[in-house]
Amino acid sequence: MTSGVIQPTDIREVAVIGLGLMGSGIAELVARSGRRVDAIEIDRSFLDQGMARLHASLDKAVGRGKLTDAARDEILARIRPTDDVAAGVADADLVIEAIPERMELKKALFDQLDEACRADTILATNTSSLSITEIAGGTRYGARVAGMHFFNPAPVMKLVEVISTVLTPPEIAETLALLSSDLGKTPVQVSDRAGFVVNALLFPYLNHAIRLLETAQATREDIDKAATAGLGLPMGPLTLLDLVGLDTDLAILETLQAEFGGSRYAPAPLLRKLCDARLFGRKSGRGFYDYRRPSTLTAPAEDHGRAPVPAEVALIREQDGRLDELAGQITATGIRVAPQPSDETGLVIVAADPRHRVLDAALAAGHPADVVGVHFVESGNRKPGLAELVLPDITAAGTAAKAAALAARIGLNAVISRDRPGFLVEALAYAQFNDAVRMFQDGCASPADIDIAMMLGCGYPRGPLQMLDEAGAANVVGVLEAMHAATGDPAFTPVPLLAEYATARTRFRQ
Ligand code: CAA
Ligand code: NAD
Repeated sequence: MTSGVIQPTDIREVAVIGLGLMGSGIAELVARSGRRVDAIEIDRSFLDQGMARLHASLDKAVGRGKLTDAARDEILARIRPTDDVAAGVADADLVIEAIPERMELKKALFDQLDEACRADTILATNTSSLSITEIAGGTRYGARVAGMHFFNPAPVMKLVEVISTVLTPPEIAETLALLSSDLGKTPVQVSDRAGFVVNALLFPYLNHAIRLLETAQATREDIDKAATAGLGLPMGPLTLLDLVGLDTDLAILETLQAEFGGSRYAPAPLLRKLCDARLFGRKSGRGFYDYRRPSTLTAPAEDHGRAPVPAEVALIREQDGRLDELAGQITATGIRVAPQPSDETGLVIVAADPRHRVLDAALAAGHPADVVGVHFVESGNRKPGLAELVLPDITAAGTAAKAAALAARIGLNAVISRDRPGFLVEALAYAQFNDAVRMFQDGCASPADIDIAMMLGCGYPRGPLQMLDEAGAANVVGVLEAMHAATGDPAFTPVPLLAEYATARTRFRQ
């Protein structure tokens, strides 16, 4: 331990500024730890909204039997709501700032804190991506400013990124790490780089998902299902974007784009449009999904499952036996399976490989308008896998519906994707794996730290580099090269270290 470290027991009074999505959760967390909390908002109306969110969260815990009524009342008694920043921070040992992701707002607030706080108060920002160095550099005592980055929902997600700038003495970072542990979180210490570890990997992936939606690669439900059923993630990317808030998502991507450039970070136009329309996701009632009408959250956009199931399908078998099990499943439901298409055939099934176009197999099969490619994905966490039904653009209008109806009949968990390299699951995942390798290659974080951060920050069942090892570096390189060739986008070029590991058959995680 570094000498002169303020111990968590000495942090008794914490001011949380901004009681929005994150601040209300952070205030709850800190008050649950027995500390006094000054919960500060910009005006009475936002204060009431923030406190209502906090009350609702505690009431939910009581309803689930996780908290007694008395414990809830004690937690609430430790929280002092106020719209007076100066009064709220005057006695604070620590301030945690959680106001919107805009540099000019943060700087104006930190100017106020310079005047209103004691000189020994630690100032932590929960910024997702902004330069903490820039915030610190503009204050009177820059050494006491650091990042304390919680993840949404703050009471649930286990990670806190503790971010040091060039001005931060090690004692401050250590105090914040110890405090994070005391709050029941796992701290990771990172340096001040846009997006730190988690957001620098999460947001290009989320942005990619929006691009898949706006280029009609798949429906929003299927894009989300590709991530949950195909990768085992707790939430699909579009649902997660809505949870975080689309205004915050856009601000984070703009910062990443300004820092790193390139298409991975350039905000997808659809995200900007939704923000222009003030559709900010769950917090405003509508984003990619409409939360005001819960029935629309689960209903598929098109009910393909109700189309008639063909009486006969042709299944073009591969020598590797990939489709043998599928043939058995289809036959078991009473549908005839033919080895080649004929005029009787309603649907032609070929094996799909994310490195190659289904189109070529469709043309070879002879009835291209009726062809669907099938690609099975194992999520690897003992959850049922996913079948990607891949349709070249030349297929007939009803082919998707017939394929979906067949999948429903035989009980496949399926998504429909256009015929583009990587389809849905591998396009989303492998591009992120490439970003994760770049982060390691550039010396920003170790493979173990990257994996732990994504698991604790975003609920990944396994980290991206472990998943990469399981998929095989050579396979990942092959899909990325196909994505690069099809799109011309250099962002999909395998980074040199990934190509090296693929050649040497080396694993990232031992
Ligand atoms: N506040 C408090 N508690 C909450 C909560 C909330 N908003 N949402 C869920 N919970 C609690 C529930 O009460 C429940 O607790 P118990 O087990 O003690 O009863 C637990 O979390 C699980 O909840 P549910 O069963 O309702 O829901 P779930 O199993 O589907 O999990 C989830 C919900 C935890 C949010 C899960 O879907 C998940 O992990 N999603 C990924 C979230 C993620 O990636 N977060 C990071 C976003 S990026 C970020 O935050 C950084 C940034 O800068 C933008
Ligand atoms: P939010 O919009 O839900 O809440 C921000 C709150 O700050 C609002 O209630 C607003 O009234 C209040 N506010 C604005 N100016 C203020 C001021 N000067 N004084 C007091 N209150 C003020 O935003 P959020 O999603 O909670 O994000 C807050 C910060 O946390 C941002 O920096 C964001 O990037 C970061 N963050 C967000 C998430 C997420 O998932 N939403 C996760 C981690 C970090």
